[in-house]
Amino acid sequence: MIHPRHLFDQHGQGQVFRFFDDLPADKQDALTRQAASIDLDEIDQLVKTLVKKNAPTESHGADPEPADYIPILSKNQNSEAWQKATEMGEQALRNGRVAAFTVAGGQGTRLGFDGPKGTFPISPVSEKSLFQIFAEKIKSSGERYQCSIPWFIMTSLQNHDETSAFFRKHSFFGLDPESLHLFPQGTIPIVDQEGKILLNDKHNIAMSPDGHGGSLRALARSGATRWMEEKGIDLLSCFQVDNPLVKCIDPTFIGFHLNEDSQLSSKIIVKKDPNEKVGVFCKKGELTQVIEYSDLAQELQQQTDPDGALRFRAGSIAVHIFHRELVEKLGGNSGEGNLPFHIAHKKNSSLDEGGQLIEAPAIKFEMFIFDALPFAENPLILEALRESEFSPVKNAQGSDSPESSRSDQLRQFARWFKASGINLNTDSDGIPEIKIEVSPQFADTKERFVEAWKSLSPQPEIKNGLVVE
Ligand code: UD1
Repeated sequence: MIHPRHLFDQHGQGQVFRFFDDLPADKQDALTRQAASIDLDEIDQLVKTLVKKNAPTESHGADPEPADYIPILSKNQNSEAWQKATEMGEQALRNGRVAAFTVAGGQGTRLGFDGPKGTFPISPVSEKSLFQIFAEKIKSSGERYQCSIPWFIMTSLQNHDETSAFFRKHSFFGLDPESLHLFPQGTIPIVDQEGKILLNDKHNIAMSPDGHGGSLRALARSGATRWMEEKGIDLLSCFQVDNPLVKCIDPTFIGFHLNEDSQLSSKIIVKKDPNEKVGVFCKKGELTQVIEYSDLAQELQQQTDPDGALRFRAGSIAVHIFHRELVEKLGGNSGEGNLPFHIAHKKNSSLDEGGQLIEAPAIKFEMFIFDALPFAENPLILEALRESEFSPVKNAQGSDSPESSRSDQLRQFARWFKASGINLNTDSDGIPEIKIEVSPQFADTKERFVEAWKSLSPQPEIKNGLVVE
C-alpha cells in the first residue's frame, strides 16, 4: 500500500508532512492515520472548482423563478385534502415508518452560548432546553400513535460528548435510550487561499465540520439508513436544533409528502420582509432549489407581485421530510449523486512554515442539506404558520434571539388559553401579562390544548408561573 505521505506529495499537498521526520513515532502514526482517512481526489476537485475556480463554472443562465407551494389558505378551501393528508400521515406513524432527525452540529457562535445549542434553556417559565422540548414532542407523538419514533441527532466532534452527557444526566427526558441515536458529523480539511491543506499541530491536519449537508453521508455511511430499512422506516422528519416551535412530527406534512410520492418535502413560511435571513425556495428550469439569503440578488429579493406580496416569499424554515432512499443515494458510496460543497472564508489558527501557530485567512468547505432538492423526485413545499411553527434562536439579542423566541412561545400559549375560553390579559402584541407555559406532553397544538384543558378537573389556577403539564 502506498504511504499517505507519497499520496499527499502526488496531490501537491506534501506540506502536510513537513514536520513528519522530527515527530516521535506515536505522533507520526497519528498523522499517518488521519492522512489516510482523507479523500484527496475530493480535495483536488474542490480546490480546482471552488478555490482556484479554474474549472468551467456552471452557467447560471436565466434568473430563478419563485417555487410553487401549497398555501396554508387552502386548508379552509380544500379541507378534505388536508384531512386526507393528516390521516395518511397518522397511518404511516402507526405503521412505524417515521424517524425524527435533528442537525445539531453547529457551534452556535452567533448566540454566544458556551455549549451545545440544544442544551440552551428556552421555555419561558420552566426554562426547558431545546432538546427537552423536542424530546417531549417526540415522546408524545409516539404515545399518541402507539409507535416507536427513533430520534437521530447529528452532533459534531466538538459537542458530541457534551450532548450525550446532557441526555444521560437528564435520563433521556423519558425517552427510551435505545431510541436515541447520536452521531458526530463528518469533517473535511481546511485549506489556505491557495488550496493547501493546513495543519493545526505538527501531527494534526486542521479539519472543520462538513456542514449540515454532511448529515446525508453520516447517516448513509454509518449504517443508520440500513438500520432504518431493517426496521421498516422510510421517512425522516428533519429539523434544526434552534427552533422550539418546530413540529418535530407533523402527520399532515408527512401525509402530503406521501400523497405526492415525494422524495423530499419542505416547509416554508412567508417572509416577513425582503431582508429576512432565510433561504428562499426557487425554481431554475424544472429544478427546485433553495437559494440562501446571501446569494439571492437584492433586486429579486425586493420584487413584488401585483397584489403587493413579495414575489420570492417562500422562506425556508429548514424542516423537511426525506425519503430514506434519497439519503442513501446522496450520502452513500454509490456515486449516484453528490451534494455540492460551498466555501466559507474564515480566519483559522494554523501552523506557518516555521511551525508557529498563527491566525490566518482560511477556507472551509460545507454542504447544505437543502442542496438535495434538485436531486429529489416530486419535491413538495408546504406553507406553515410562522406564529405556530417558527421562532429560531440564532442571535444573542434582537430578532431570532432567546428573548424574541420566549415572547413567541408566550404568545402561542396565550392564544391556546384564549381558545379555551380562559380570560387572559394580553398586550397589543399578544403577550400575556403573566408568564405561562404548556408542556408539549400536555398538548402540542391549539386543538389538543383546548381538548385536554376541558378534561382537566380541577383546572389549575391561572397565575404567573403556571406550567400546564
Ligand atoms: C439556516 C438555513 C436557512 C434557513 C434558516 C432557518 C443554512 C445555510 N441556512 O440558516 O436557509 O432559512 O436556517 O432557520 O443552513 N449545523 C450542523 N452542522 C454544521 C453547520 C450547521 O449540524 O456543520 C446545524 C446547526 O446546528 C443548526 C442548523 O444546522 O441546527 C443551521 O445552521 P446555521 O448555520 O445556524 O444556519 P442559518 O444561517 O441560521
